[in-house]
This record gives sequence, structure tokens and C-alpha cells, in this order.
Amino acid sequence: MIKKAVIPAAGFGTRFLPATKAQPKEMLPIIDTPTIQYVVQECVDSGIEDILIISGKGKRSIEDHFDRNFELEARLQERSEESLYTQLRHIEDMANIHYIRQKELNGLGDAIYHARFHCGNEPFAVLLGDVVIDSVIPVTQQLIDAYDQYHQTIIAVETVPMEKVNRYGIVAGSRLNDRMMQLTDIVEKPAPDKAPSNRAVAGRYILTPEIFDAIAKTNRGKGNEIQLTDALRRILKHNGIIAAAIEGKRYDLGDKLDFLKTTVEFALKRKEFAVPFEAFLRETIQKLDDQKPL
Ligand code: G1P
Repeated sequence: MIKKAVIPAAGFGTRFLPATKAQPKEMLPIIDTPTIQYVVQECVDSGIEDILIISGKGKRSIEDHFDRNFELEARLQERSEESLYTQLRHIEDMANIHYIRQKELNGLGDAIYHARFHCGNEPFAVLLGDVVIDSVIPVTQQLIDAYDQYHQTIIAVETVPMEKVNRYGIVAGSRLNDRMMQLTDIVEKPAPDKAPSNRAVAGRYILTPEIFDAIAKTNRGKGNEIQLTDALRRILKHNGIIAAAIEGKRYDLGDKLDFLKTTVEFALKRKEFAVPFEAFLRETIQKLDDQKPL
């Protein structure tokens, strides 16, 4: 049974400056919903309601977002804005969210290490906030199912173009079935000519408590940070790790162009925007084709 999830959210968000100078990158919205809300929703849809957010300096608006706002609720009720009121109450009641602050930014491994007392001796899910996955079965649920089968650490993976391997943790392993691999290697952001494959760690994990010891023994790696990937490589030697290919569409929010593409796709999926937004896109493309000014 996986009952707890950890969402690291302490990073500076330098890839989104200047927007992230005074607000957390996790609060940047895809249309009208902060990215961290999609991630919390994935936990809830996977049956996890105990969530630890690894927070840090300048991240208080994340707490406010999941907290009650009585004044705003009262105002919405006065104005009979029932649908917005219900939406707000849903966000506030989604899950039991705990926070711990990572005081120094020493990397993803160090962020996860902050969860050791909260998670204790239980396996737990980790969801990185710069990935949103649209799928029939939530990806965290897919990983929980794999954990129930193998009782080993589970990492979600996805094939990426070879020129992008230096943006991800990259795995190698031996095939177990159509979706699963027993891991033999994992490296953080290798150069394309050094990558053991083009299967990338996709930002969702089920970790077992051994990870905490492994992190404690892990030296600084890529970017002079304590990398979760390096701690996982340590575990690999003693305990097994399974890589599970995700079933769903992964939206990378790691850089501005990817964020923009995600916003466009999500807008096309939203009932109220789909038709006028598609018309706008077609018109824009037509102008580009005709080489008219936009
Ligand atoms: C982190 C992990 C990397 C993983 C990626 C997925 O990197 O270190 O292994 O592939 O998330 O999004 P980051 O994007 O935080 O640099």
C-alpha cells in the first residue's frame, strides 16, 4: 500500500525567470490552474491523500493555494458564483498536505532526504512538478500497480529523442515485458554519445525507505548537487529497480517553449476554448503561410 507522496518544490525555477523571481514556478498556471495542482490531483486520483511538499524560500503561495480563503469564499457566495466557489472548496479539501522547508538548495536527492521522518519505513511516491501527464490511469497509480507486483523501487520512463538525453536521468536495463525493464544502469543527464539508451526518467517514482541511506552516502554529482539518480544507482547494486514505461502523454514544463506547447494543447482540450482557440490558431497559421504580419 502506498499512502504517501512527496512533491519537491523548493527549486529557484531559474528556467522561468523573470516570472519566478517573486513567485514559485509551481504556481505558474496552465491556463488557470497552477501546475502543482495537477500534480496533487494525480496523487489524489491514485488514492494518495497524504502529501508532503518540500517547500522553501519564496514558496508560501503554494500553502495559501491549498488553504482556505474565507473572505474570497464569502465574496463568491454573496455573488452566487457557485461554480467558482465549488472549485475553490475542492482545492482546499483535496488532500492532507504537509510542508517542510529545504533551507539550502542542494539538489533533488537532498530534497527527498527531507522526507525521511515523514515517510519513515514505508514506500512512497515522488512526483516532480515540472511534468504533467495526461492518462486514463494516473501514472502514479500505474507505478503503484507495478510496485504491488514487484515490490521494488519503480521509476517511470519515457523514450525521448537522442538529442534530449542530456536533460534527463537515462536508464538501461533488460526487458521484462512490453512495459517493464529490470534496471542495470541509470545516469543523470549524460551527453548523447555517453547515454546508455534514450529512455528517460519521467519525473514519477515509487521509492523504498532504503533511498534515505543511499542519499546520505551520495556525494555531489551533476551540477554540484546531490542527485536522486546517483542515490538510485547505489540502490541498484543491492536492491532491484524496475523501469515502467508510462502509458499516457507526458507534458514537459521544464522550459518556456515546452510550457507554451503544453498550454496550447490544454487550451484545445478545454470545452470553452476548443472551438474559438482552434479558429485563432488556424487563422494565425494562415497568416504565416501568406506571410502577412500577425
Ligand atoms: C530531474 C531528475 C532527472 C529526471 C527529470 C524529469 O531533473 O534529476 O533524472 O529525468 O527530473 O523531469 P530536473 O529536470 O529537475 O533537472
